[in-house]
Amino acid sequence: MTDHVSTPGSGGVFVTGTDTGVGKTWVSLGLMAALQAQSWSVVGMKPVSAGCERTPEGLRNEDALLLQRQASVAQPYERVNPVALEPPVAPHIAAAEAGVRIDFARIERAFKKLAASADVCVVEGAGGWLVPLNSRNSIADLVERLALPVVLVVAIRLGCLNHALLTVESIERRELPLVGWVANQLTPAAAPRADENIEALNARIPAPRMATVGYTPTPTVAHFERAFSGQDIHRHLKWITPLERSVR
Ligand SMILES: Nc1ncnc2c1ncn2[C@@H]1O[C@H](COP(=O)(O)OP(=O)(O)O)[C@@H](O)[C@H]1O
Ligand SMILES: [Mg+2]
Repeated sequence: MTDHVSTPGSGGVFVTGTDTGVGKTWVSLGLMAALQAQSWSVVGMKPVSAGCERTPEGLRNEDALLLQRQASVAQPYERVNPVALEPPVAPHIAAAEAGVRIDFARIERAFKKLAASADVCVVEGAGGWLVPLNSRNSIADLVERLALPVVLVVAIRLGCLNHALLTVESIERRELPLVGWVANQLTPAAAPRADENIEALNARIPAPRMATVGYTPTPTVAHFERAFSGQDIHRHLKWITPLERSVR
């Protein structure tokens, strides 16, 4: 482990969530912007996307395009999103329908190139932590393969305690470092006992709450970046391992 990371090619961080649609993309963009504001160069990656538009250039996913645009260093789309699947369904089903094999080695090569080009590569998952990618492997297996530290986005709503704690248990069982978690409020009206839910997670998740994001009618990168302000992201990300150790 290094105390901090200051040279390009140092590694990455994986953003997972308690479910699909909980704010992973926006938290990833906000985290990238917060790091950029602290003079880090950052790139984004969406290794597997399911839910793409057909364009003359090929299949394009909205999350991947946002991550590509937020990067400090321009990157080809195919590197940001090596596996793009058209229907918005579970990736292993979309892949089987398209006759695509989700190839971890190809994803790892793309990740290495991205990570070598900037201080940090922020990698967004697809769906939640144990979403299958093929008949044998899940998103969690991919994160293990890339040996990435994890940030968990929790949508603060009824049911989130179970989802969050199950996810944390699985991350721990795989001996991956949990950098921290982010509480995200997705709805204009706070969930009943939202503060008590956040407290319950503070008491049970053995990693810091890095940010609390309030509801916004129009999500912007600045809104999510502000949620990290005043935080020493550098300190949170001290878990990021050098590239040569992070990719086996
Ligand atoms: N704090 C928030 N306030 C309002 N809307 C939000 C907030 N966080 C996320 N959303 C909205 O919820 C939806 C899911 O967010 P997204 O980041 O795409 O989730 P995921 O990447 O986990 O699928 C998007 O429409 C986004 O605009
Ligand atoms: Mg997303």
